[in-house]
Amino acid sequence: MCGIIGYTGKSDAKDIMLDALELLEYRGYDSAGIALLSKEGTQICKRAGRVKDLRDLCAQKNLVGSCGIGHTRWATHGGVCDENAHPHRFGKVTLIHNGIIENYRELVERYHLQGKLSSETDSEVVAAVLEHFYTGDPYSAIRRTVLKLKGTFALAILFDDQPEKIYAVRNVSPIVAAVTTDGAMLSSDVAAIVPFTADYFVMPEFHVVCLSKDGAQMFDLAGDHVEIEWLKVDWDVSRSSKGGYPFFMEKEIMEQPKVVGDTVLSRIRNGKPDFSKEGVPDHILADCQRICVIACGTAMHAGLVGKSLIQAMIGIHVDVVMASEFMYNDPVVDSDTLVIAISQSGETIDTLEALKFARKCGSPSISVVNVKGASIARASEYVIYTCAGPEIAVASTKAYTTQLAVLYLLTARMAMARGLWSEEETLGYMSELSRVPEVMEKVLSQKDEIHRLAGTIINARDVFMIGRGLDYSILLEGSLKLKEVSYIHSEAYASGELKHGTIALITEDTPVIAVVTQEKLKSKELSNIREVQSRGARVLLLIKEDEKLEDDKRFANVFRLPVMEDAFMVMPASITLQLIAYFVSLDKGLDVDKPRNLAKVVTVE
Ligand code: M6R
Repeated sequence: MCGIIGYTGKSDAKDIMLDALELLEYRGYDSAGIALLSKEGTQICKRAGRVKDLRDLCAQKNLVGSCGIGHTRWATHGGVCDENAHPHRFGKVTLIHNGIIENYRELVERYHLQGKLSSETDSEVVAAVLEHFYTGDPYSAIRRTVLKLKGTFALAILFDDQPEKIYAVRNVSPIVAAVTTDGAMLSSDVAAIVPFTADYFVMPEFHVVCLSKDGAQMFDLAGDHVEIEWLKVDWDVSRSSKGGYPFFMEKEIMEQPKVVGDTVLSRIRNGKPDFSKEGVPDHILADCQRICVIACGTAMHAGLVGKSLIQAMIGIHVDVVMASEFMYNDPVVDSDTLVIAISQSGETIDTLEALKFARKCGSPSISVVNVKGASIARASEYVIYTCAGPEIAVASTKAYTTQLAVLYLLTARMAMARGLWSEEETLGYMSELSRVPEVMEKVLSQKDEIHRLAGTIINARDVFMIGRGLDYSILLEGSLKLKEVSYIHSEAYASGELKHGTIALITEDTPVIAVVTQEKLKSKELSNIREVQSRGARVLLLIKEDEKLEDDKRFANVFRLPVMEDAFMVMPASITLQLIAYFVSLDKGLDVDKPRNLAKVVTVE
């Protein structure tokens, strides 16, 4: 959470940073600020509100300098107000911080900071401790400070008497850095760097990087010089713009046929799933006795689909655990448990910590990650990258379906590795998987009809979504999407559970969305729908287009999904639910891409 940016070079740092903060705003958008270091000293401009508000404030000031740091905040310690916005300054030190300093109260006492701080943040305390240790040697001050900190941090630091230099250090929270044609930059993710260069590096934890207009240098905490490992961004800058759409969420929904196709097709060889480029050996797929998927939010919902697929097709037990709960339930993972960590950002701290724990228990691990070089990718034994490209909208859409694509591929490879499928079965499954992009296009071509359907729930206070088995998993994600971007309370309910209490909440004012895509569950699902209709509920039904309904008049609306084999119906159904959520949010006039209180990358526990 929180976006950080730093630039030092020959250009005007203010404009570069404001543009970059706009690109990073999806990481947190409570407040924003910049600091510029120049011969005239350090100037800070910050405020609660969005980056556009900061831009207005900056325009009223005469800010000059070609070296600076900037921040967009998702509040953790201290409310949303101008004082708590970053950068924070103490003495000669000015910094921005992403993360949480757990022992900040102890530090306040230890360094007698009571009454000396001007904000309620843990971050300002770090500035004060740095100032305490600073005697002209930034490395020494950083080293001594870092050793006192407990928690997570990505820090970018200016010292008044170190002109044109930005120092950075991190633990867990990410920082990437790059050398550009006229200077050097750092950021919490590559989105802000990619307009300037495709070459970047991920800062290792507990290393100090110094950026100057001549480039970047890196040292370990002992002060020894460390070689930088360079990476290349493999998407171009146009992919992080809205491309003519009003919101990134719509653009990202529309990109799905392409990115799912890229994720799948690059891993098919001779018609079969192939992870040789990733180096994933068949034995870890063949030997494991059980699987544990760890993930949060949408990524966890992808895991639930994976569980249904693997249990049905491979016949081994799969647990899907919310990463934020993993550590608190005495997890039982061992060398026979293949751990699959799923994360778009690759930085979600709960998932990262759970993965590290599982590895300590001896579990083999594969991560499914979208952002190249992210912490989760580096912490796992093997990584399979989704080819979603940059996902900017806070609500995840294309990351979800590309994660599903990887899980479909993994299931097939696992079946092959275990000798469970004939050649014909494998080829048949893969050819159905290859149809997903074309089926998605078909759904997207009905965007206007889906927009109309969204209009039927826009005024609801609560929406229930019901289904069984795989349909229920689809709805968990559909419901999260609706809640997240429209602020309509919605619950996905396993339709067989309704009678155990929740049906009490169904009235004629409660729209119900039902998904029926699984032949073996159809008759039970349709009976469950009757039960809510008997209580007056208006039902929007999502069902395969070749399905005959005896009495479709009893449904308020029916949306026909293009037909795939049952196991793949998740794809057309999910994309439909994403569009419903999107249009509700759009028509309510909400900030679709930046729903209140959320942030794209959750790097605090
Ligand atoms: O980056 P990750 O995939 O690890 O993020 C996990 C969740 O925070 C994320 O999926 C979240 O639930 C989305 N905002 C949902 O749209």
